[in-house]
Amino acid sequence: MGLTTGFETVVRQGEPLAMHTWFQLGGPAEYFAEPEDADQLIALVRRCRQEGAAVRLLGQGSNVLVRDEGVPGMVIRLSAAAFGKIQVAGPTVVAGGGAPLGRVITTAVHQGLAGLETLIGIPGTLGGALHGNAGTHGGDVGQWTVRATVISASGEVAQRDRDELDFGYRQSSLDELVILEAAFQLEEDDPRELAKRMQKHWIARKAAQPMGHQCAGCVFKNPRGASAGELIEEAGLKLTRIGGAVVSDRHANFIVAEPECTSQDVLRLIDLIRSQVHDRLGVELERELEIW
Ligand code: EPU
Repeated sequence: MGLTTGFETVVRQGEPLAMHTWFQLGGPAEYFAEPEDADQLIALVRRCRQEGAAVRLLGQGSNVLVRDEGVPGMVIRLSAAAFGKIQVAGPTVVAGGGAPLGRVITTAVHQGLAGLETLIGIPGTLGGALHGNAGTHGGDVGQWTVRATVISASGEVAQRDRDELDFGYRQSSLDELVILEAAFQLEEDDPRELAKRMQKHWIARKAAQPMGHQCAGCVFKNPRGASAGELIEEAGLKLTRIGGAVVSDRHANFIVAEPECTSQDVLRLIDLIRSQVHDRLGVELERELEIW
């Protein structure tokens, strides 16, 4: 039956992925879909399973580097309005996996619900944030999560309650294909105080990180008790360049893509940083950025 029959309005072939990622690099997806609602999404996931096609979920592309040769199989984006709803009931916020994390945070703050405001400035969708348990030194998204609805690679819908959820530093037990929806239990607080706190976090982040440049989030995880950015700077690697890929001068755990940069340049720079930090400081860095 193929991957497009019956999905002609939502599946495209050869979609360039660069424009869907923060790095703005890399080749096309063999198939790319933006389903309209959960039923269509489930039907599509099941079709991919029948046809033996690999499926990947793309959020806002802020933690992904797509290789220059592109991605085989199906890439799905939850860009339709049906996946981005945010509802507030008492101290609980329920949001769709496709909702931008920033919008979930500001909605909670405006409603006088505290907890997520320290995460302001983290890019990406809620689904992506939960997948990798995005966070800052002030906390992470997992610590406020009480429930999630997921879809497996075979197209089965399941609910995971708090006792089944396990979050660690940049890792999550939510490893199913799709995070459809999640609920957060927050704490009541004064909305004006919360907004001020959120603004402080935003300013601190803007000052410390190369926002507005063509780059993704942090490239490496922080090793236990250390900062990857600090180690990369200590190894003397700030402003190191391969082709159009440069280690950020503002924060060494970011790679900035300049005009003419290719994904291969970024991949080679990542390898160089890892080997130099190992040789000079004896520390093995682990990648946080996903490579597709
Ligand atoms: N530092 C340097 N040189 C640098 C970068 C940082 O010396 O080039 C030093 C800073 O001066 C500071 C320490 O390293 O003393 C920590 O730096 P920062 O506060 O910027 O935090 P981080 O540990 O580098 C983590 C997260 C960020 C998150 C910030 C803010 C990781 C890998 N990174 O960075 O998350 O925004 O805290 O809380 O856990 C991400 O995960 O993609 C990400 C950007």
